[in-house]
Amino acid sequence: AKIQDIDPTKLSITKTTTPKSLLPPEELIFGRNFTDHMLSLEWTASQGWLPARITPYQNLSLDPATCVFHYAFECFEGMKAYKDKSGHIRLFRPDKNMARLNKSSARIALPTFDGDALIDLIGKFVKLDERFIPQARGYSLYLRPTMIGTQRTLGVGPPASALLFVIASPVGPYYPTGFKAVSLEATDYAVRAWPGGVGDKKLGANYAPCIVPQMQAASRGFHQNLWLFGEEEYVTEVGTMNLFAAVKNKETGQNELLTAPLDGTILEGVTRDSILGLARERLEPQGWKITERKFTMKELADAADEGRMIEVFGAGTAAVVSPVRKISWRNRMVECGLEEGKEAGAIAQQMKDWIEGIQYGDEDHTWSHKV
Ligand code: COI
Repeated sequence: AKIQDIDPTKLSITKTTTPKSLLPPEELIFGRNFTDHMLSLEWTASQGWLPARITPYQNLSLDPATCVFHYAFECFEGMKAYKDKSGHIRLFRPDKNMARLNKSSARIALPTFDGDALIDLIGKFVKLDERFIPQARGYSLYLRPTMIGTQRTLGVGPPASALLFVIASPVGPYYPTGFKAVSLEATDYAVRAWPGGVGDKKLGANYAPCIVPQMQAASRGFHQNLWLFGEEEYVTEVGTMNLFAAVKNKETGQNELLTAPLDGTILEGVTRDSILGLARERLEPQGWKITERKFTMKELADAADEGRMIEVFGAGTAAVVSPVRKISWRNRMVECGLEEGKEAGAIAQQMKDWIEGIQYGDEDHTWSHKV
């Protein structure tokens, strides 16, 4: 028999008989509440992708020997659906999430799939649960496509069966009272990712080991930790986000927007890519230099000391951008260019406005995918 890819025309829908009541939007906490339904697809090595199902949101029932519990066969995505002014549902660059999920799953011997077919199915799922998408600016439906290995075995090998499911959580603005600049502690005793590793894949296994360093930073009064790499102390990521720094170049005096290159240790963020694209299109003509290169914590500290620091911010799907006020590093504090009383720099604010403008359909753009 032929091994099937996802066929979006073969979808069965079982609607809930107990619709949930909607929470007042201001009570939404990130990732705590879910919609009425979920989308699921099973895969077997012999048949390929079986017909997709939309069912009431429900528990999974898995044998305790299922390989996901033992050897971490799990990868996921984070993406959002938005409601625009005329009530249309929009996804932001879903093709990017599909491409990344395929790369993540392939790396842990889980199956790949036709990304356009899954986007089609996600569209149908989101449409069915569209009453959960708040229309207000800053609100959206966070989607969590997840793939797990489901073979019941303690044998270490490629799973012969898998489950791909998508759940959806209505979310509010990451900072309900507007931007809040965060303070960071540079982590010097643990690394998030390394050359030849899997730090560029969105594996659940990359996230659990990051919680203790985050708790350590929090115990000393910092919001997040900053991930450095190597003896050179290259700046890589912040918490679960990519990091951008705007500095004046030491030699040329030119304004430079910096982020670490995709060398295998950096998560290929969709927001990261969007910021780079918009910066090249809209900041470069204003004299900015946009650079993907390695840069060190010392470079940032020197920029701060020499009055060349402009701003620093994190970039991710959950918060879009997250301005940084200061970084604790080697028993000193590196100030990141924010004036007293200000919560965001001009570039972070501009990027958030541009990206949200596209996400909510205020600006017509190929990145916005109408459902
Ligand atoms: C992001 O969107 O920045 C994330 O990676 C957060 C997610 C893991 C909750």
